[in-house]
Amino acid sequence: MNKVTMDTIINYAKRYGFVFQGSEIYGGLANTWDYGPLGSELKKNIKDLFWKRFVQESPYNVGLDSSILLNPKTWEASGHIDSFNDPMIDCKQCNSRHRADHLVENHDETVLADAMSINELEDYIRKHNIACPNCGAKSFTPIRQFNLMFRTSQGVVDDSTQDIFLRPETAQGIFLNFRNIERTSRMKIPFGIVQIGKSFRNEITPGNFIFRTREFEQMELEFFCKPGTEKEWFAYWKDESRQFLLDIGIAEDNLRMTDHEESQLSHYSDATTDIEYRYPWGFDELWGIASRTDYDLSQHQAHSEENLEYHDQVENTRFIPYVIEPSLGVERLFLSVLHEGFSEETLENGETRVNMKLHPALAPYKVAVLPLIKKRHRDMALELHKRLSKHFMTTYDEAGKIGKRYRRQDAIGTPFAITIDDESKEDGTYTLRDKDTMEQKRLSETELIEFIKRNIQF
Ligand code: GAP
Repeated sequence: MNKVTMDTIINYAKRYGFVFQGSEIYGGLANTWDYGPLGSELKKNIKDLFWKRFVQESPYNVGLDSSILLNPKTWEASGHIDSFNDPMIDCKQCNSRHRADHLVENHDETVLADAMSINELEDYIRKHNIACPNCGAKSFTPIRQFNLMFRTSQGVVDDSTQDIFLRPETAQGIFLNFRNIERTSRMKIPFGIVQIGKSFRNEITPGNFIFRTREFEQMELEFFCKPGTEKEWFAYWKDESRQFLLDIGIAEDNLRMTDHEESQLSHYSDATTDIEYRYPWGFDELWGIASRTDYDLSQHQAHSEENLEYHDQVENTRFIPYVIEPSLGVERLFLSVLHEGFSEETLENGETRVNMKLHPALAPYKVAVLPLIKKRHRDMALELHKRLSKHFMTTYDEAGKIGKRYRRQDAIGTPFAITIDDESKEDGTYTLRDKDTMEQKRLSETELIEFIKRNIQF
C-alpha cells in the first residue's frame, strides 16, 4: 500500500512544475490551479490515452466537442435547475460554510449522508452534537439547498441579456447532438459519443488539492443502447473502465468498486457504481459509471419538441435509447497517477532518488538528451535533441553532474535518458539508460528511435 502523503504530492507537483496555485502573484484565487510545463503534458497525455482507448480503438464510439454554453432550456430539461443542489450549512460562530452531508460523513463514514433529507441531516447534526470543523462551535444555521451551477449572462445590452449557465457536466452537449451524430455518422445502436472538456460547479467545499475544484475537466462517454440491454452494457463499461485504469498503471489494490444504494442515486439514474481510488485520505470517487435510463433524451424530446427517437430499421421499431455513462475527472486521474507513481528509493551507493513511476505513454518527456561533457558534446547533443523531438517529447539538460541530471529525469518520470560521449562522435552510437532498471546499452540513432517508440506504446 502506498503511504505517500498529500503534502508530499502537493510539494512535488509544485517543485517540478506540474501544478501551481492559480493567480499566485495576486495571492491566489481560492481552489484554482494552473498546470505547468510538466503538468500540462501529463494532462494532455491522460486525455490522449482516454481518447485512444474509448474513441480510436473502440468499435462503438465517436467523438464530439460541443459548446460549454448551451441553451438554458437544456438545464430545465436535464433537471439541473431543480435538482443539482447540495445541502449548505453555516457556522454561526465563525461563518464558515460547509456541506451538511460532509459534516455527517466525517462524523461517521458508515452513514449514507447523501441519501438523507434536509430534516434528517439537521436532526443528525443536532443529535450527535457535531462541531464546526473550523472553530469547534456547535451552533449552525438551518440547512439551505444550494444550486451548484455557475450563472452568467450573455449579450451586451442590458435589456437583451440572457441568463445562461456554464455547463456542470459535458454530458448534456452530447444529448443535444444525439440526433445530429446518429444521422450524419450513420451510427447504428448500440453506439457511444465521447466528449472531453471543461465543466464548472460552484462547489460549497472544494478541496483536497485538485480533487474537488470549481473548474475541472471531464472525460465522458454516453453510450446509447436498446432498452432491455442496459444491464449488460452497464457491466461491459464498468469492466472497460476498470481495465483502462489497470492498463495505465493503477494497482488493483488501490481500486474499489462501490455501488450506490437506491436512495443515493441521482435524479436521472437507476444504477450507479463508483470506481474509487485509495487517495491519501482513503478511498474516494475517481470515476462514476451511471445507468441513465432514457431520462435525458426523453426530457430533451419533451422540452424541445423534437423527435429524438431512434428508428431501428432491421426490426422496424422506434424507441428512445437507454444510456450508460462512464464519467471521469481528468484532475482526479492526474492526482491518482502522481500518487500511485511517487516513490523514494535508496540506491546501492546510499543515495536516495525520487522515482516517478509513470506509464511511459503518460510521461511528460519520453527521453532526455544529456551531453556527458558540456563543452565537448554539446553540439552533437543539441543536434540529436532536434531530430528526436520530431518523434516524441524530448528534453535537453547540460547543467551539472551527469548523476544529478539522471536524478532529475527520474523524478519527473522520463523513462529514458541518452548520453552523448566521445564514442558517439566516433561511431554514432549513444548510451540509452532505462529509468527503472538503470540498465544502460549502446544503440545507434535508428535503433534507439525504434526502441523508444516501441516502449512508449499504449
Ligand atoms: N455526467 C455525470 C457526472 O457529471 P458526477 O459523478 O457528478 O457525474 C463525474 O461527476 C466525475 O467528474 C466524477 O467521478 C469526478 O471524477 C469528476 N468530478 C465531479 N465533480 C468534480 C469536481 N468538483 N472537481 C473535480 N472533479 C470532479
